[in-house]
Amino acid sequence: MSSTLTIALPKGRLLTRIITCFKEAGIQVAFAERELVCLDKKNKLKFLLVKNNDLTTYVHHGIAGLGICGEDRIIESGYRFYKLHEFPFGSTRICLAGCPSVEGEKEEPRLKVATKFPRFTQNFFLKRGIPVEMIKLEGSVELAPVLGLAPYIVDLVETGSTLKAHGLEILEELADIKVVLISNPAYYKLEYQDIDHLVHKLGKQP
Ligand code: PRP
Repeated sequence: MSSTLTIALPKGRLLTRIITCFKEAGIQVAFAERELVCLDKKNKLKFLLVKNNDLTTYVHHGIAGLGICGEDRIIESGYRFYKLHEFPFGSTRICLAGCPSVEGEKEEPRLKVATKFPRFTQNFFLKRGIPVEMIKLEGSVELAPVLGLAPYIVDLVETGSTLKAHGLEILEELADIKVVLISNPAYYKLEYQDIDHLVHKLGKQP
């Protein structure tokens, strides 16, 4: 007798594409107005709608055994998950960016960087032996160089249009980021048969 799998989904720009992807796999994700939980009884799936930044916390604590998010959230959480499936949308890059005129200053002894990704940024530059002064922001990171908070940012770049709109450019691509289905490792060990069945369904799409 198979049990109901619980999957955390992120609010925001990925949600519509995730719902479409499930629909193509014969799975219905339909949240009623203001509801944060919904069920697909036929496929024995329960969905939780959570803030993108909280998603890995729910999966790490096993509240949701599975979740869908960008790999940036996994890196930043510091938690360990199994990556079970890569979705064919939402790919981005984590980039170092700034005004074109600051390119020469990269040799400065200390990089002042504004970012939503302090863990990633710290580790990346630590490995290169470059000290960084980090300014943690929650969003609209592209404003930092424009307003003089920091000359550099480390942020996600998808189309590049936000950078362009603020007169910024990519100085270096630091990591490729995919949208992935993750599992709490202990949950996977318990529910691997049903989880593998779900992964197979998602993988069969065009
Ligand atoms: C993300 C990211 C960039 C932007 C990049 O921000 O942090 O700001 O999208 O996309 P683009 O390259 O297609 O322009 P998001 O829209 O999630 O909002 P936030 O800045 O408030 O986090």
